This record gives sequence, structure tokens and C-alpha cells, in this order.
Amino acid sequence: MNLNINIVVLLVVSFTLLTCFVTGTLAQQPVACPGYQVSNLQTTSYGYTADLAMITAGPYGNSVKALTLYVVFHTQQIIQVKIVDAANERWQVPFVNQMGALPTSKPNLIDYTIRFAQTQFGFSITRVSTGEVIFNTSPPSNCSTNGLIFSEYYLEITNQFPQSNPNIYGLGERAAPLRLQNNFTYTIWNRDQATPLNLNVYGSHPFYLNLNPNGDAHGVFLLNSNAMDIVMQPNSLTYKVVGGVFDFYFFMGPSPASVIQQYTQVIGTPYMPSYWSLGWHQCRWGYKSVNESKTVAENYAKYGIPLETMWNDIDYMDVYQDFTLDPVNFAPEDMTSYVGWLHTRNQHYIMIIDPGIHMNDSYEAYGQLLENGAFIQQPNGVAANGVVWPGSTIFPDFFNPNIQDFWYVQLEKFHQTVPFDGVWIDMNEVSNFCSGNCAPVSQSGDQVGSYPNNPPYLPGGLPLDTKTLDMSSIQFGNVSYYNSHNLYGYTEGVVTANSVISLLNQRPTVISRSTFPGTGKHHAHWLGDNQSTYASMALSIPGILNMNMFGIGLVGADICGLQGDTTAQLCARWIQLGNFYPFSRSHNNNDTIPQEPYVFGPEVINITINSINNKYTLLPYYYTLFYLAHAQGDTIVRPLFFEYPADPNTFALDSQFLVGPSLMVSPVLTENATSVDVYFPQDIWYDYFNGSRVDLSQGNSLTLAAPLDVINVHLRGGAILPTQPTADYQVPDGGIPITTNISRTLPFTLIVALNANGSASGELYLDDGITLETYENKKYSLLQFNAGTDGSSTVTIQLTVVNTGFDMSSLIVDKVVVYGVPIIVTTVNVNGTPYTTLTYSSTLQTLTIESLALPLTSSFTIQYSN
Ligand code: GLC
Repeated sequence: MNLNINIVVLLVVSFTLLTCFVTGTLAQQPVACPGYQVSNLQTTSYGYTADLAMITAGPYGNSVKALTLYVVFHTQQIIQVKIVDAANERWQVPFVNQMGALPTSKPNLIDYTIRFAQTQFGFSITRVSTGEVIFNTSPPSNCSTNGLIFSEYYLEITNQFPQSNPNIYGLGERAAPLRLQNNFTYTIWNRDQATPLNLNVYGSHPFYLNLNPNGDAHGVFLLNSNAMDIVMQPNSLTYKVVGGVFDFYFFMGPSPASVIQQYTQVIGTPYMPSYWSLGWHQCRWGYKSVNESKTVAENYAKYGIPLETMWNDIDYMDVYQDFTLDPVNFAPEDMTSYVGWLHTRNQHYIMIIDPGIHMNDSYEAYGQLLENGAFIQQPNGVAANGVVWPGSTIFPDFFNPNIQDFWYVQLEKFHQTVPFDGVWIDMNEVSNFCSGNCAPVSQSGDQVGSYPNNPPYLPGGLPLDTKTLDMSSIQFGNVSYYNSHNLYGYTEGVVTANSVISLLNQRPTVISRSTFPGTGKHHAHWLGDNQSTYASMALSIPGILNMNMFGIGLVGADICGLQGDTTAQLCARWIQLGNFYPFSRSHNNNDTIPQEPYVFGPEVINITINSINNKYTLLPYYYTLFYLAHAQGDTIVRPLFFEYPADPNTFALDSQFLVGPSLMVSPVLTENATSVDVYFPQDIWYDYFNGSRVDLSQGNSLTLAAPLDVINVHLRGGAILPTQPTADYQVPDGGIPITTNISRTLPFTLIVALNANGSASGELYLDDGITLETYENKKYSLLQFNAGTDGSSTVTIQLTVVNTGFDMSSLIVDKVVVYGVPIIVTTVNVNGTPYTTLTYSSTLQTLTIESLALPLTSSFTIQYSN
């Protein structure tokens, strides 16, 4: 009620400020710095509009004289500020935005005010509930940063921070520490480069999350697909963008998790992956024949290592041409029987597809693409070209509606011979081994300093066509590749996912290298070319955390490293860590030593089996997290500050991470280490594996033993984890080690980790793991678990069935393990009847109740007394 009144009052105040052009908290600036002046402010049904007139031009020519400002109040926590050319249409990102058309009314409650400075245009947005200024574009009086600049090929706007050196996260894609540096220029422009530290790589995500030291977070998303630099300085952040418009979305949070929930309202929440895609994947560049691939799968079984999916890299193709097979080493009949064989073992098959179509007159797909006409063109109508694995190639235009047909037909025909289960799309930045139209001869005539390859301001300092297509290329609808480059992988992913849906009538499993905001709604991502080094392994943690902040839930890094030779020890550590990634795939380059886990002997084999068993045991928890991500925009893996935003020790912590709210993973990230330093935020923590409580009486930073076969994982008090332990699964004679289709049928164990009040809760989402839109169509079951006391010494653990759209009749809870039970328990009541199959450990203070055989279909109650 109070909040209501406050918001109304502030609205009135800010409205008064606006209509009188009073500057509110924004200081009036002299007219010296480049910028605009605001006039004709109007209230609209959705917010405001205003005119902006240029007063001083920017440095790069062709300044736009008249702009229109739109302010849209979307929800209580989401406000959009958009600045466009008043007279001429400019490029705007056509998809992505899930907010729909302009709203016809304002939300009843809003948690922001927007104020404008008149003489020198600037705006500020304040979060009402905390009074924090979260964005302020009014330049300082000495013009140390400019006002708004809006010219043909250069846009600039600066946000002045209220406090120096804020905690900023995001602005990807790059391999970089989680907390961004306060004095660095971050370039955003899709580029194929093997993850050099801090530089722009495959995807573009102009989104950041800002965490205030007091624990309040907000988010800022610039919906723009052009190349840009984001200049971070201790007191400001400047966007320098070479095209499009300024289309900002501000998310008030105030918790980090709610910022991402709000962001995914705009770009779409993560899609629900196939259950099997959460299993263990084996890939390498350099499986030179179908026999070699099959031998790998056989070796997995021989050594008792679970394997869900086998992959092939470009080796399978005939001279690296998409949708073809090497007639000798991957003969069609051999591939049909190999993939069929994997399917009889409940295993899956994925192969790589690159976008470049080989310019070869005898290559069917080339002729068909030319006929179809949906390829990227040069301004003269000839196909734009480049050089990729097969040599000279042209590129499908995924903006063109006709491409869906071409792409589907190719995949469908290939699928008749190779019944793949998913598609790996690579090189889609677009990657080109030369720059511009270089095949067969260079046709790029651009001079340095000339648009479009060398616009007057060059983000990242390299010509925009470096190792990609010429920027003068054209996509469907007369869209300049200068504007659409960053959308190539996103659009290819959507078209590929749609094709797989049409083909299989199942949830698509599509893994793409290049991404853009909104990718996570359609498909998955891996972090690209990393190195077989400890440093690269460590950077995979901020890599997967960032992608989850960008709304891409299913993500992982190449386990054991792609480039360079791995070692048994590094691989063992990476397999332990990688089985906590949402997407777990080992992948290797073609010029490196083999790194399938069994090549390193019994110790690594055992570590691998245990690690994969851990992942499969936890899949009910992961899958429930995916449901929460899909339904409400939660993250699967998250930084510690998401759960402990007021704890400064978590702000830059990226050597540990959380899976969901409760499971903390603290891997070894250095060579030869046999211990690991772990930071425990103030809470109750248990060893996930044995249930013993972590003693924090001497402080929150502990050095824990971590011999090679141990990864430290802790469970937070207050959680109930649904698990399906796989370790005791007996492989039938001649059978293969466990796959996820088996693991998801096994009896459940509930791990109940009590918090300081003696209570805990959790949930479990179940569906068939493959059918499209089970959530939307309510074809799922949802169970709620609660544990707690009514004030007496009796602890009650309860299952409540919330939704029953999926048949759970064959599923049981067989075991309940309670962590944090201080007093010996001898009797338990199950649904009111005394029960004695239990073990109490006074050393660990855990209670294990076994052989319960309780059906998931009905609610149950378990009670014990301390
Ligand atoms: C790219 C991919 C890598 C793949 C290679 C060969 O470098 O990122 O994963 O193995 O191409 O296709």
C-alpha cells in the first residue's frame, strides 16, 4: 500500500518536472558538448514522446538534426527509451523483442521515474523503491564525456555512474573474468577468434547487470545489432555504436535474479531442452571414419563409461560440403547402420553443419541454393562469397523466407541416410578465412576510412569485414550486412531449430557457436574454441554464467580443451567440472592427442564414471531448473552474488558457482593442487556427498582437501534436492552403461538439507523429456517438497502433488536422506505408520530412510522426532 502511494506521488512529481522542463536532479549543462535539446514533450498512452533538436554536431559527420524520443512504460520494472531519426527510417533489429506492439496503457504501478535535462538533452532513470539513479546521460559540465551524438554511422551516449567503479557484468561474448574491468573498452561484434582474453568473440550481447554494493541490481539492454564499443571508465560507461538506433530497456530488478527474469521478458526465456541433451557428449575433430567413431562408442561401453551422444565434426563430409558424406570413410550405408546402432543403444547422434555452401557446380546443394535464390548478395546481385573449409563458398540468407524450405529440404534428405538427433551449427559469425568477397578473386574495393567496411569510427579497431563477409553485402529486404552481421548465427539457429522441429516433431537440439539476445529461446550454445589449459578451464566458469545471464540456459565449454594437447590431470579436473555445466561435451582439435576419457587409464576412467553419474543423479534437479528458466526466466547456473547480493566477497568470485539456488561447485582450477580454497557465504552448508555440515566457526574461507578424484560440492541448508542415483544401476549382460532414458526411470532419493530453522523445500518438474510445449500444454507433473517443524521437536517432510499432466505411475521415492539432524533418531512415521528401515549417523548428523517405495503420484508425509 505504501509503495503504491509513493509511486503515485513520484509520478506526479516527475510528470510536473517533465511538463515544465524542469531538470529535476539533472544539472543544467552549457551547450558546449555535442548534443541535443529537448522540446514538445507529450504524454502518451504508454509513456512520453519528445522532439530532440541538434545543438552541436558530433565528430564523425552527417549528424541527424531532428530525432524523436519514445519512452515506454512496459511493466512495473521495465522501461524502454528509444531514440530514432525523426525523418528517415534507420535499421532496427527486426526480431528478438517479445514485448509486442506499443502498449495502449501504462502499468498501474511503476518502480521508476524518468527525468530530462532540457538545455543539453540528457535523461536519468531512478528506481523509486530505493531512490538509486540507475542511468544518467547528462554530460558533466567540463564535457569530459559528450552528450547524445546521433549521426549516420556513429551514435554515442554516456551513462554517468552515481558511484565510481560499479560492479558490472555481461557485455559479451568474450572470455573474461566475471566482474568486468572499470577501465577497459569492450567491443561487441561477432568474430571467429579462439577466445583471446577480453576480446569480442562469436556472439553479441549488449546487456549488462549492475550490482550495487548494497545488493540491489539493475540491468540495461541496448537492442542494437551494429558493431559497438562500450567504453568503461570508473565513473561512466559510453556506448559508441556504428549504426541502428538507440533502443534501451532498463530493468529495475532489484535482485540479480529478477533482473534476468525481466530481461528474458524482452528477449524470451530459455527453451525447454530435450532431456537427453543434458547427458554426456563425445566429440572430436579427427574421427576419420565411421569405424573410428563407432570404436569410440564401443570403447565407452567397454570401460563402463556412460555415453549419451556421439558427434562428428567436418571429417564426415565429402570435401567439407554440407549435407554430403565422404563416400569412402563415411559411406552412406555405413552411416545409416552406425546411427541406427547408436539408436538401438538409446544413444544419439549429432553432426556439424557450416553455413558456407561450396561454389562447386557439381554440388547439388549449391545448384539448389542458386535456384532458390536465398543467398546473401553483393550489391550487384551476385552471391557474396568467402572461403571456408571446402574452399570458395556462398552463404544462405536466413532473413529470406525461402531459406526455410532450402534448409529443411537439405536436412530432410540427409536425415534419410543419417537419422541424426540434433544439429551442431558452427562458423556462423559468419566466419570467412579471408576478408570480404575473396573467392575466387577479391572484389572488395573499399578504401581505409570508407563505409561500410571501415566506417569513420571502428569498434575494436579492425575493419568490420575482417575474417567475415563484405559489409556491403545485402540480405533479404534490402538489409545491409553492415547491420545484420551480428544476427547471422541467431537467424541460422532459428531456421535450423524450425527445420528439426518439422523433421522430428520433437524439441530441437541445436547447438550454435554464434548467438544474439533471444538465442536461448530457440537453441543452445557452446563457448567455442578454447585451449587445453587450466586458465581456459577457469574462464569457462564466467563463460557459462554470462550465457545464463544472457538467457541461454544450455551451455558448456569444450571439456578437456580444444586446442593443444590436454593432460590426464587437466582432463580429469575438467571432466569433474564439466559435468556440472548444463551442457557437457568433450571436444578436441584434429591436431592434438586423443582425449576420450578412457585413453588416460583407470584413474581417469573412474573419475569420469563418477562425474557422469553425479550429473545423471542430479538431472531431476537440473531439469526442474530448466523448467523454472523456461517458465520464469531463471538461470540454471549462476554466480554466488545472485543468491548473496549483499556479500561483497561474492562480487568478483568466479572460481566457484551455483547450480540453481542451492548447489555450490568449487572445482580445482590449478595444476597439481590437492586442495581448494572455498568461500562460503554466510549460511548453513553441507558436503553434498556425505551430508556433514561445514564448520564455519573459524571463518567463511576454508581450504578443503581436493585430491584428484574429488570435486568439492556443497548443498545449502534449506534445499530439498530430488535426485535419481545411478551409481547402483546394474548394466545388463551385453548392455551399455547407463543413458538418460534409463536414469530418468530410477527410484528417487530426496536430499533434505535443513536450514537454521529446521526447514527446507524444493520442487520437481517431470515430463516425457522430448515432446514440444509440454509446459504450455500442461503435459507435465509438478511436485512440491517441504520439510519443517510445527514448533515441536517433530520434523515433517511432505510431498504435495501440484500438477499431474505427466504419468508418474512408475516412479517412486525410495530413499530420503536428511542433512543436519543433531539428535539420534530411532523411529520414523511414514504416512502415520512407524517405520524402522533407517540409519542415523551421529558423526555426520544425517538420517537415511530407505526402501520407502512411495509412489510419486500421491502426497506423503514422513515424520521423525528429535
Ligand atoms: C571450428 C569450431 C570447432 C570445430 C572446427 C572444425 O573451429 O569452433 O569446434 O572443431 O571448427 O569444424
